[in-house]
Amino acid sequence: MADPLHTISATLRNAFATVTGLPAEGIDPVVRPSDRADAQVNGALALAKQVGRNPREVADAVVATGALAAVCSAVEVAGPGFINLTFTEAFLAEQLTATAGDARLGVRPAAVAERVIVDYSAPNVAKEMHVGHLRSTVIGDSIVRLLQFVGHEVVRENHIGDWGTPFGMLIEHLLDLGDSAAIDMSDPNPFYQAARAKFDTDDDFKSRARDRVVALQSGDPATLAIWQRLVDNSAEYFDIVYRQLGVLLTHADLMGESAYHDKLAGVVEQLAAKGLLEQSEGADVVFVPGYTNRDGDPLPLIVQKGHGGFNYATSDLACVIDRVDRLGATMLVYVVGSPQAQHLAMVFKVAEMAGWLAPPAHAVHVGFGSVLGADRKMYKTRSGENVKLQALLDEGVQRAAAAVAEKNPEMPADEQAAVGRMVGIGAIKYADLSTDRIKDYAFDWDRMLAFEGNTAPYLQYAHARICSIFRRAGVERAPVRATAVSLAEPQERALALALLQFDAVVHDTVEKFAPHRLCTYLFDLAQAFTGFYEACPVLKDGYEATRESRLALCDLTARTLQQGLALLGIDAPERM
Ligand code: ARG
Repeated sequence: MADPLHTISATLRNAFATVTGLPAEGIDPVVRPSDRADAQVNGALALAKQVGRNPREVADAVVATGALAAVCSAVEVAGPGFINLTFTEAFLAEQLTATAGDARLGVRPAAVAERVIVDYSAPNVAKEMHVGHLRSTVIGDSIVRLLQFVGHEVVRENHIGDWGTPFGMLIEHLLDLGDSAAIDMSDPNPFYQAARAKFDTDDDFKSRARDRVVALQSGDPATLAIWQRLVDNSAEYFDIVYRQLGVLLTHADLMGESAYHDKLAGVVEQLAAKGLLEQSEGADVVFVPGYTNRDGDPLPLIVQKGHGGFNYATSDLACVIDRVDRLGATMLVYVVGSPQAQHLAMVFKVAEMAGWLAPPAHAVHVGFGSVLGADRKMYKTRSGENVKLQALLDEGVQRAAAAVAEKNPEMPADEQAAVGRMVGIGAIKYADLSTDRIKDYAFDWDRMLAFEGNTAPYLQYAHARICSIFRRAGVERAPVRATAVSLAEPQERALALALLQFDAVVHDTVEKFAPHRLCTYLFDLAQAFTGFYEACPVLKDGYEATRESRLALCDLTARTLQQGLALLGIDAPERM
């Protein structure tokens, strides 16, 4: 175990058990990093209360067991019963060597490996993929990588909007345009609008479109073939964006609304059989306790419209059943914008009421805020249109490539282009991931591409700088990992403590589905490295005695930055 806080937790659990007589398994010693010392133990407060004793006295007794003496150079009881710990250099050095020798950099697997479905990205066929879908894609991608890294089995599902009544008019319009027609998916609005306009003004078209919906729903092969063309056309475009973004999603992850189409009638039947279905304003609905509309009236989840059509909610219910029953998922993660919070909460609730979502299976809505422009309004182009994703990504890459070329004029052009891609895409992703996802964030090229501050380029640059130290020294990286590290300087010690927090931070990030926590950590780590590098010469003449040890700290820092960025879906170039 490389995380000192984790190692210490086990020791403390036993010490608290001895002192309080409580069973060790149920004890959480609550160990946290601290500004006053290396770590602070807060467990005495709650545990003393449980056994009706004074917390300071319990803390004193824990210290008196001597359990911490082997790993701490100072132990101090403070305030109402906190225990402040300062670790010995030997203990930290030993944990560092163990971390450096571990391909996972000390990150423990999750206690229980679950099968997790992550529902993310989910753009709509024949409609523009907007910045909201970009957020879902980027956040979802990071969450998938994090869950996998801690040992969960992840199934990615891209629940695209590929079914419903508008497909009648879209198919008819495509047919009118001829056999080889396709939607320009980088700008699908004109296609959609033209279909809509015909539907609204041309009665013949309107009735053809209506017949077409019926044909689609009844599985008419010719109609399905044209529908498939529309879906393929869109999926091809989604793929271009996914490849450009460098996310894990592929064609195989498509699991759109259409995939549940033949299960919808069964959903409604089961709800009726369970006595949950009610009639409201001509529709079949389920009233969900605790939900009311603006007037305070009970709010229903509509599962079947009056004329027989099913709803978005119905396919989400079918989804829950499929994910739990067929895929055996115990955790269902929905990376969907916050405006859909109520919809999802009601779907989860109905699934629970119907017994489809029962412990250990549970669902989590990982919501997120909007992308705003510099004016703090919804992000739009200057002319007020929706931002085209491909163009947006291209612009990020171009801007980054220009900055890379300026900083590295001697770098070969193809490498400049490759690094530009990593920096540009990394900057866009990091800007999205580094603020608490619940908040809105402002899209700002200059800020996200800056080489200073909490940005991807800053972290990528810190990583590349360490790689260049090894290149200059002509030293292989792997062999330094066995070095026993010395931590005599305060900056070395601070860097060591930061490196050893990686395990705790990764788990905290996964548990809260909060990539910004990992970002904050990586930024702090990069700053701790800068502090170290300024104060502690690595390759300078006269510092031969500490060279190996400092190179070992450099190597572990670079690997932690690289692994941390990888968990965010961001590449770390070796030079930039
Ligand atoms: N297609 C939807 C949209 O663009 C998002 C779907 C989210 N996933 C879900 N299972 N409802 O808003």
